[in-house]
Amino acid sequence: MALAGDMQQKTGTKPAARAFKALEMPELEYTPGLAKEMAPLYEKVKHVIPSVEWPFFAPYIRAINELKKERGAVVLAHNYQTPEIFHCVSDIAGDSLQLAKEAAKVDADVIVQCGVHFMAETSKLLNPQKTVLIPDVKAGCSLADSITGKDVRLLREKFPGVPIVTYVNTSAEVKAESDICCTSSNALQIVESFGTDRVLCIPDEFLAKNIAKQTDVKILTWKGHCEVHERFTAEELRQYRKDDPNIVIIAHPECPPEVVEEADFSGSTSGMINWVKENQPKRVVMVTECSMSDNVAVENPNVEFVRPCNLCPHMKRISLKNILESLVYMREEVTVDPAVAVKARRAVERMINLGN
Ligand code: 13P
Ligand code: SF4
Repeated sequence: MALAGDMQQKTGTKPAARAFKALEMPELEYTPGLAKEMAPLYEKVKHVIPSVEWPFFAPYIRAINELKKERGAVVLAHNYQTPEIFHCVSDIAGDSLQLAKEAAKVDADVIVQCGVHFMAETSKLLNPQKTVLIPDVKAGCSLADSITGKDVRLLREKFPGVPIVTYVNTSAEVKAESDICCTSSNALQIVESFGTDRVLCIPDEFLAKNIAKQTDVKILTWKGHCEVHERFTAEELRQYRKDDPNIVIIAHPECPPEVVEEADFSGSTSGMINWVKENQPKRVVMVTECSMSDNVAVENPNVEFVRPCNLCPHMKRISLKNILESLVYMREEVTVDPAVAVKARRAVERMINLGN
């Protein structure tokens, strides 16, 4: 985990492309009028947000949605954000690839990234003229912190001619040293796109090993892990099946390979969501960050979700309170060193163009 100071450095203190004034913090009272106005929205999320919590959330949700209009802002939210963010204030929600693609198309002056720092950096790379804000600059990622640009340069020296694919869960500095990026939903396609017999797929060791099982390309990797997905064990999954032989298990490819092997399906966060929508299992375990089950449950009332609760502490740094503060005070602005950005953008755009 990077220290707050490191993140501050990465984020920088350059002023926004457009000058924005701080606004007054809006009133956050839960009045009978507000309760009435927000009732249709609560109806949608009532199964995953307890009624005792709604009076606290509702004033924030209304204030954020009003301020978005005033600032000309869009909120991009990753699938791991909590339901009051995912369903009530986000304009675009999705997995890492969808967020990167959508960020490239955004028609707004301001992007508020509800996710972790590498996601906000990717949005900034694709929108250099726009103001990209992250509500908590300390929202890091154990994978992004596992490798530096210098490490990638050393790998290139050690394996000359071997293409370097880096997971989007990395800093702009690391992306800048690589040939192309990938996400969990396109890693296999990207690895095979070079037509070489060897590819470096870094820094997620487990994603690389899970991909290696599906291709003849020899994959070299790194020792980075997601601190959320590495905690799941195959034994735990076998226990779910022992308790209920009809249970369906779907796992994210950041899990260790023996965990993915025990699962009935593996895919990116959106891949998992779509699988549930299409297959409507009676009972399912989503072996991934646990807020996602709440988000998916809203749209799949006939599916019972068994929720092993592994939370990502970085994703959970984002809250309605700091999203509102972000829009009021226009902080924290994400910037990327222009020399790094040119090369990092190329790696992200290659990935997006390959998919298109
Ligand atoms: P995807 O949403 O691309 O599957 O990535 C999961 C993740 O760990 C993001 O932090
Ligand atoms: Fe990083 Fe894992 Fe958290 Fe995703 S869930 S942000 S990969 S630590």
